[in-house]
Amino acid sequence: MTSSLLSLLALLLVQPLVLFAWQDYKDFKVYELKPQGVEDLNLIRKWSKEKPLWDFLGQKRNESSLKVMIPPEEVDCLVETFSRYHIEHRVLIEDLAPLVQSQREENLKKKLLIQMPQIDVLAAFYTHSEINDYLDSLPQRFPKRVQVKQFGWSYERRALKVLTITNGDGKGNKPVILIDGTVHAREWISPSMALYIIQQLLDNYAENQELLEDYDWVIMPVVNADGYEYTHTDSRYWRKTRRPTNNPECVGTDINRNFGYEWGHDEGSSSDPCEDIYRGESPFDQPESQVLRDVMLHYRGRLNFYLSLHSYGNYFLLPWGYTSDFPDHYQDMMSVADAGAKAIVHSTNGIYSYGSTYYVLYPTSGDTADFALGVVNATVAMTMELPAAGFMGFDPWVSHIERLVTESWVGVRAMAAEVIRRYPA
Ligand SMILES: *[C@@H]1O[C@H](CO)[C@@H](O)[C@H](O)[C@H]1NC(C)=O
Ligand SMILES: *[C@@H]1O[C@H](CO)[C@@H](O)[C@H](O)[C@H]1NC(C)=O
Ligand SMILES: [Zn+2]
Repeated sequence: MTSSLLSLLALLLVQPLVLFAWQDYKDFKVYELKPQGVEDLNLIRKWSKEKPLWDFLGQKRNESSLKVMIPPEEVDCLVETFSRYHIEHRVLIEDLAPLVQSQREENLKKKLLIQMPQIDVLAAFYTHSEINDYLDSLPQRFPKRVQVKQFGWSYERRALKVLTITNGDGKGNKPVILIDGTVHAREWISPSMALYIIQQLLDNYAENQELLEDYDWVIMPVVNADGYEYTHTDSRYWRKTRRPTNNPECVGTDINRNFGYEWGHDEGSSSDPCEDIYRGESPFDQPESQVLRDVMLHYRGRLNFYLSLHSYGNYFLLPWGYTSDFPDHYQDMMSVADAGAKAIVHSTNGIYSYGSTYYVLYPTSGDTADFALGVVNATVAMTMELPAAGFMGFDPWVSHIERLVTESWVGVRAMAAEVIRRYPA
């Protein structure tokens, strides 16, 4: 019996259990809103605090259109509220369930064809444990060039692993490009992108060796392991960690508001555990944030480029998030972002916006890039918001992966080359 038949059987056996845990989003609706001006945006910001069941997506500054996902029992209230305040709205998705289910089935089917622990990045989305197995398989294939290190554990005791890639010349203490993925659980293109970068540097080394001549690359594909696993097994649109909070109704903290530099501003994070931007009780009270912090600090003095992979929105976001002031060397970081944006527009016509998080997106406090710059003294620190795809922006189909990761690699590669050029070892 082939292993894919075996896994098909295994899948059939576990299917009822899996379906039982799976949040099916039955009759969840998605509305599109057209806020007019600052007052409408302020109202939406207020509702996103007061109504934990209304999941607003795409709230950036001066957004002319955004989405909200809601369970069926909230529909009447939402429609009534929007009508009362004359906020233009229309139904985008009547029932999210069949859409989520068909994506889930597509992904499970595609994976039956893949011989783990090898993974075909373009052919499916992978779970945290599949990604760990893949990372663990690499030292055997590239004994001189990679090292897998476990830096710690998630709250639910998942191993948090980090891959170091070198050109194998044995030289120590090269400057480092540090890339993380999956700080936010539902942003599935993020781990795929991290894996694609790994494969470009390993399997496609011939074309990329100059990127490793004087620099080492350190890649952590999954930071929020529990949240990410939860999006595979339970709730596709989960964002935060899975650690309970002091509110028994609400679970999870936003790792990207939990970092200990200028942590805790109310503009840019929330003290309410029911909000998606909940910052935690104190900086670094999430084990996953501690691990990523430790990875960053491990490379202190060598960290020339910190890049955090998120989705969505086509942005290169620089510090600061917590203030409208600009950091020293802002223009140098802008030049790096500029190199990425130009390379992408030349290759695919894809348009990226870039600048400080505070200006381009919205205020954030306690985010990872501010910490990388403000505490670890990274030379360049950046969050990259990959393009939207799928129904909600976070949920590309498998068939979208190739377009998204190849385009994004053009940008990452150009930015890495620019960092290497500007800051030679
Ligand atoms: C957003 O809109 C406000 C008011 O219309 C304007 O003052 C501000 O400059 C705009 N911000 C951005 C980033 O476009
Ligand atoms: C970053 O730079 C500041 C100022 O020079 C220094 O005090 C601090 O120790 C540096 N941080 C690290 C992690 O080395
Ligand atoms: Zn994100």
